[in-house]
Amino acid sequence: MSLSFYACKKDNTIEEAPKTTAYVAPSIQNFRTMPIDAANPMTVEGIALGKKLFFDPILSRDSTISCSSCHKQENSFSDPRPRSRGVDDMPGPRHSMALINLAWQKDRFFWDGRVSTLKEQAGLPIEDPLEMHLPIAQAEQRIQRHPEYVDMFWKAFGTKTVTKDLITKAIEQFEKTLLSYNSKFDKYARGEMELSASELRGLDIFKTEKGDCFHCHSSTAPEVFISPDRTFANNGLDSVSSVLDFADFGLGKFTGNTNDYGRFKIPTLRNLAFTAPYMHDARFATLDEVIDFYNDGPKGSLTLEPIMREKANKRVELTGHWGLNLSTQEKADLKAFLLTLSDSTFIR
Ligand code: HEC
Ligand code: HEC
Repeated sequence: MSLSFYACKKDNTIEEAPKTTAYVAPSIQNFRTMPIDAANPMTVEGIALGKKLFFDPILSRDSTISCSSCHKQENSFSDPRPRSRGVDDMPGPRHSMALINLAWQKDRFFWDGRVSTLKEQAGLPIEDPLEMHLPIAQAEQRIQRHPEYVDMFWKAFGTKTVTKDLITKAIEQFEKTLLSYNSKFDKYARGEMELSASELRGLDIFKTEKGDCFHCHSSTAPEVFISPDRTFANNGLDSVSSVLDFADFGLGKFTGNTNDYGRFKIPTLRNLAFTAPYMHDARFATLDEVIDFYNDGPKGSLTLEPIMREKANKRVELTGHWGLNLSTQEKADLKAFLLTLSDSTFIR
């Protein structure tokens, strides 16, 4: 007989697995319903366990680093350091990413898209030598030694055996509860608040050919502001004559396809007020620098997103400018709009 879903109490009677409480996601008027993952149903108990694990340095080799060391709540679960630092103060190769409304980002994770689920993702930083650097078997053993954790696994999953599968399931459940939906823009979308004249002009620049932002960062997916039609793009950060000259191959590093070199995951635009510096390599310290970059126009390379090249060529034809050629006021308007996507209730 298998006892895996039961546990023997001291008096040798068999303890039945406790009932879990299903998590009910808040219904958010301007959002689509949160997608449900049948492979990992969210429960109040699973989320509580995932939250404890997320903030606990127990998952790093020297017990100094937790997920929250590089995904800090006050920075919308990103990291103000251009390069996050793992155990032994080792810098990683890329800038950390903000964790917001992840349930709606079901495609691919990491700047290079190398994993397809949050569950799969959660196991990687634990073992990564530049992050927490702890063999997963040791992580399991360590957690197994804590009666408080064992009790939480029992309550969440009906087993007292700690496994990688359950650790990562719990973390995934918690991450999906990192919901941000009270930005000024959300309140505007729900008809609770007006945007200022400048913010409205900025929105117009954002969603029209004037700014051309919407091809990649779209308000039709308001939960994440990532276009439903595109997940990765080369937005023209670097001019290289051969794709082999990109300092980071991005998506191409994962797929091995040279057409993907220099393409990166399109990031959310939510909470930009808290997530500086920007881009996979943190090259821009401020939003003004980001806007100046787009305003100058994309730098050329073979994998530059075709739509960006097309629009820039058209501008040259019509106006003689490769870049957006926005005025100082228009740049300020675009920035004012972008900042309406920041939700200060989320970082507390
Ligand atoms: C040492 C710093 C560090 C630690 C510790 C760390 N992360 Fe990260 N995290 C990063 C960086 C840097 C990236 C981007 C890496 C890349 O693209 O190669 C990232 C990316 C992610 C992403 C992808 C987000 C997206 O939009 O694609 C998720 C999810 C994530 N981390 C969750 C976690 C969890 C869960 C833990 C703990 C088990 C953790 N991280 C620990 C630095 C860290
Ligand atoms: C062709 C697709 C595309 C277009 C068009 C585009 N972006 Fe981006 N954007 C991206 C990609 C891809 C990244 C990440 C690039 C990287 O790090 O290598 C990015 C990054 C950003 C970031 C940094 C976010 C962060 O967390 O690091 C901001 C802000 C931003 N874009 C705003 C805009 C604005 C404003 C416009 C319009 C003026 C715009 N983008 C147009 C694809 C695009």
